[in-house]
Parts: sequence; structure tokens; C-alpha cells
Amino acid sequence: MKYAVISDIHGNAPALRLALEDAARQDAQGYLLLGDYCISAPWAHEVVQLLRGLPNAQFISGNDERHLDVPPGDDGQYEVSRWCMSTLTPEDKRWLDALPETLTIPCGGTTLHMAHSSLAFVGKTLHTRFRTSVLPGFYPDGPVSREALLADFRALWDRPDFREYIHALEPGVYLFGHNHIQTHADFEGRMLVNPGACGMPLDCGDFGAAYSLMTIEDGRVTVEERRIPYDTEELIAQVKASGQYAAARVWSELIFSEWRTRREKIYQFLDSCEAYAQSIGDSRRPFSKSTWEAAFAEWTAHAREWHPELFV
Ligand SMILES: [Fe+2]
Repeated sequence: MKYAVISDIHGNAPALRLALEDAARQDAQGYLLLGDYCISAPWAHEVVQLLRGLPNAQFISGNDERHLDVPPGDDGQYEVSRWCMSTLTPEDKRWLDALPETLTIPCGGTTLHMAHSSLAFVGKTLHTRFRTSVLPGFYPDGPVSREALLADFRALWDRPDFREYIHALEPGVYLFGHNHIQTHADFEGRMLVNPGACGMPLDCGDFGAAYSLMTIEDGRVTVEERRIPYDTEELIAQVKASGQYAAARVWSELIFSEWRTRREKIYQFLDSCEAYAQSIGDSRRPFSKSTWEAAFAEWTAHAREWHPELFV
């Protein structure tokens, strides 16, 4: 049976539609969804509607589903969460809230284990060494090819601490997203599959709707990584025309920059925002709207000199 494995859509319904159309053309018969359906692109309601219409689908939740439940307020930091929440129907929210955090499913002679983050399977081993906040440092000169990224992923994990985690796992298939880096590798009968971020690839490679096809026959698992190209600037123009841009301009601009470079910016911006707030003696958290916007103006002026590897 052939499955489309999809993660980290982040409200990007145009990307999800492209992935689903491609999966249908590739004869996918089932769908495995790994969380982070909302926040960052403005079409979370459309995403939920598309997902709920899928046949033979299994879903788990991601961390951004929890980020919908922010306290009321007039801060800048959570304005994108509040706006996203305002676009969801009560039924959408009930459906999201009811999703499990993990699933384990016997399938075709093997077992599928689904969790949003690799933390659930191999501890912090992947989380600390192969994540978007450090990946741009591996590739400071420009985009990396799929082949080079996969080779580096597989080589990096030939380490004693990782092997220890892997050996503690029962053989099977381990599906996770969260770090927005599309990879897969079979480590001694434990197949790790990260389909990347359908709505927001951050693996220093190509832009496009990322997902992976996984075929399981008689316990044998094969994976094909897919990335369906589309026009980044057209997507950005659509977001600028949406209510999100007016309601959460800073977050939207950060996401535009990530889409353009496929390199993480949020963590670095949050660090610089913290430094800015401390420099003006502002201890309010979450960050006030004025601090959030002033820190973003400073980030826009200096980020290329502070973090040149994020802009190649
Ligand atoms: Fe995500």
C-alpha cells in the first residue's frame, strides 16, 4: 500500500492542495498526517477542511496546535496565533483538539509509529544536531541538493549515542516532522521518515510542497521524497492580501523570508528580540507590540550582517 506522509502544513492550503494532487497522481491510497496544521500561512480553516475530507487518513497533532491557545492580550508576539484562531470554526478547533499526540499502527507486516517530533523516538539526538537553527551553518554558501542533504543526514548519525537510541527501538517505521527537514534513512530495520514541511520547507534546499510517498509491501518499506514546485512570490502576494498580514505583519514578514531562503529565521529573531527588549529595560513577556515591531525593524536592518548564512 502506498501512503502520502505529510507534515507541517502551517496553514498553507495551496501547498497542501499541490501535495494531495501529486499524491493522487502517484496512486497514494492512504494518508499519514504528522501535525502543525495551523499558524504562519493564513488558510488553517481550508487546511482542516481538506484534511477532514481525506479517505484512509490517520492524524496526530503538532506543537502549533497547542500554540492556538494563547491568553487574550494586545502583545505582538502572539498576534499570529490569535488571528489564526479567529479563522477556525468551533468544529475545526474541536477536531484539532481531539487529535492524539502519537499513534502506533500495525501495517503491512511492520509497525508505523507516528509522533510530531523525533524526540519521541530518539531523544534529543536528532533534535540537537540536525535542526533548522543549526542547518544553515552546514550550508553557508547556498542551497543544498536533496542528495547531499540525505548523505549528510545518514553520515551524521553513525555515532554511538544515536546507535544506542536506535537499538532501543523495536524494528519498524518511525514517522515524524517538526524540524521541517525532509529526510529518511533505514537504520538497521528502523526506518526513520521525515516528510519535511509541506507548507514551510526549512532544509536549505528547494522551495515547494514537500511530502513523502511511502510504500509498504510484505514488511518492505520504500520511501520517495517529493517536492512540488510553485511560485514563492505569488504565495507571498496572496498572504499580503489576506487579513493575517494586517493582523500579524512581523510574523508574516519573517515567514516570507523563510519561504524565500528555506532557512530558519524565527529562533534567531526571538533571540534578537530578547536582546533588544533587555537593552531598553522592557521585561514584559510575551513581547509587547511596540517592542516586537521595533525589534523587527532592527532585525531587518542588521540580520544579514549578524547571520549571513540565513540569507544565501
Ligand atoms: Fe512545524
